[in-house]
Amino acid sequence: MDRIRIVGGNELHGVIPISGAKNAALPLMIASLLTDDTLTLENVPHLADVEQLIRILGNHGADISVNGRRERQGESYARTVHFTSRNIVSTTAPYELVSKMRASFWVIGPLLAREGKARVSLPGGCAIGTRPVDLFIEGLAALGANIEIEGGYVNATAPAGGLIGARYVFPKVSVGATHVLMMAATLANGTTVLGNAAREPEVVDLAKCLNAMGAKISGQGTSTVTIEGVRSLSGARHRVLPDRIETGTYAMAVAMAGGDVILEDTEASLLDTALEAIRRAGAQISETNSGIRIVRNGAGIKPVDIVTDPFPGFPTDLQAQFMGLMTRSSGVSHITETIFENRFMHVQELARLGAKISLSGQTAKVEGVSRLKGAPVMATDLRASVSLVIAGLAAEGETMVSRVYHLDRGFERLEEKLTRCGAHVERVSD
Ligand code: EPZ
Repeated sequence: MDRIRIVGGNELHGVIPISGAKNAALPLMIASLLTDDTLTLENVPHLADVEQLIRILGNHGADISVNGRRERQGESYARTVHFTSRNIVSTTAPYELVSKMRASFWVIGPLLAREGKARVSLPGGCAIGTRPVDLFIEGLAALGANIEIEGGYVNATAPAGGLIGARYVFPKVSVGATHVLMMAATLANGTTVLGNAAREPEVVDLAKCLNAMGAKISGQGTSTVTIEGVRSLSGARHRVLPDRIETGTYAMAVAMAGGDVILEDTEASLLDTALEAIRRAGAQISETNSGIRIVRNGAGIKPVDIVTDPFPGFPTDLQAQFMGLMTRSSGVSHITETIFENRFMHVQELARLGAKISLSGQTAKVEGVSRLKGAPVMATDLRASVSLVIAGLAAEGETMVSRVYHLDRGFERLEEKLTRCGAHVERVSD
């Protein structure tokens, strides 16, 4: 199994190209099941989760072809992928596939809307919390679906004439349930109004793509999204938006290691709250024509308190990385997680590097230390694992991160992007 070896102490200098967003690419790919025409997605990142979803969509009958395309002197490969689901050959998403990646549960929306039925395995728990699917079930039922849970599967059936537009207010903000209800409602009879909808940029990107396919969606990016149902959707060509979590992760890596780096092909407006926290921690951040420049020279890292929240708040997917940064701050910071109940598994691993962190309920108190020392550590989930890389960049000596398959789910060519900026990071295959 691969491991990542980091020798800390180097500053970062150079350019890091930011990939297309994993969490936008996944729902966009799933949206291709809504049409018998071809959906072409550009800037699709090459990640384990994307490959897994390609297998899942293939199981439903999608024909998928990939064009590799070299971008910017070999630094990053953005791929263009064509999805054509002329016929849906199966409306069942089996446990073996869904259990590997929670987002694959989202096929329930397009399958139900287009085929009138779907049988999708419950995704089960995961390392960061229980993550139930009650909001999906309640929301689809509001559109008229009959839903039964049996033998670990959700069996959903639409009324004879198809799903029916309705008003549904999410009792809690959910990115995935917003994606699914929005997709399902595009082909419903009549108008659907979703209240307390997620406002994440990935929701906006999905709505933009669905509209290019002929859907009639408005209000995306606000908490009320309106979807006027249409009879059918066509193909389209859409470019996946930049990965704001990857952007924030590298910004924090530079804030941690020091240096001067341009994050290219990204947009500051996708992560204002996180960038503000990094600024308060002592880094200088400015916008360039094609992205963001981040500099930290000499100044120490200041302690900053954060609380995760749905967009536009501080993203839970950057919480672990920010904690990594705060381990070296000059004081005490508090990090509060409000989205997932068990997203602190990196705490024990950061402690192995010498971090001083204590947990009380959903808040971590981080007492900055003047030095971290490299050690073997274990990745526990995608974002937790990259927080260990960030800490390793500033630790003395060697940090060896095992279970890096977590990293490969969401960070494209991480070791290459960091190495090009002067970091000592390498993949070790056993
Ligand atoms: C998306 O997950 C992201 N995944 C997550 O990123 C991200 O952490 C999360 O949104 C929050 O921003 C993808 O986009 C593929 P939610 P999702 O539904 O949609 C609860 C990463 O590292 N909830 O917004 O699954 C849920 O348990 C991943 O890239 C219910 O209670 O998250 C959580 O507490 C990790 N019932 C909260 O809502 C439901 O039916 C928000 O979850 C659905 C969700």
